[in-house]
Amino acid sequence: ARLAILASGRGSNLQAILDAIAAGTLDASVVGVFSDKPEAQALQRVPEALRWARTPKSCGGRDAFDAALAEAIEAVRPDWVVCVGYMRILGAAFVQRFAGRLLNIHPSLLPKYKGLHTHQRALEAGDAEHGASVHFVTAELDGGPVIAQARVPVRPGDDAETLAARVLAVEHPLLLQVLRLAAAGRLAERDGRVFVDAQPV
Ligand code: GRF
Repeated sequence: ARLAILASGRGSNLQAILDAIAAGTLDASVVGVFSDKPEAQALQRVPEALRWARTPKSCGGRDAFDAALAEAIEAVRPDWVVCVGYMRILGAAFVQRFAGRLLNIHPSLLPKYKGLHTHQRALEAGDAEHGASVHFVTAELDGGPVIAQARVPVRPGDDAETLAARVLAVEHPLLLQVLRLAAAGRLAERDGRVFVDAQPV
């Protein structure tokens, strides 16, 4: 499967994808890495030819940026578009163009803690567990149908950093598990529902 990656930061999830492809445990290829941050470390993990980065400012605003991003992604003919630490909200027009093949990994047990600072919020709520979710992207921020989740315990003495590290460690295998289903043609979204092997999840 052809994967287009959207990332704004470090890119450890992207690296997990690249490592799985190299190890032969994910039947896919990364056909482009797209970022709103030209300095994103994620971009450095792939050859120059696969990088696309613009600032919304340089495109003349959010809508123009989203349109340029969508064109650039369409140009590489992806089977799936995967957001891994992509820190901009994708507008409805963009989401529509890639509906059904647009995925995101979010560091919380959705529907809890949509948005930012999820680890701090889980700690402040005194939750006993936390985790990550992979979901289809819809126009509602972090609101799309959830495909799979991974849970970790919150431990005494945790702060946002230690909890984030424990969550990140389960994000990588969770994401790869979902991408293997996608690459095998076993994952679909229909009418806001997730189907694996044509069975509703
Ligand atoms: C991950 O925690 C992901 O869930 C969140 O941002 C972080 C991205 O990390 N959306 P990385 O850039 O993949 O290392």
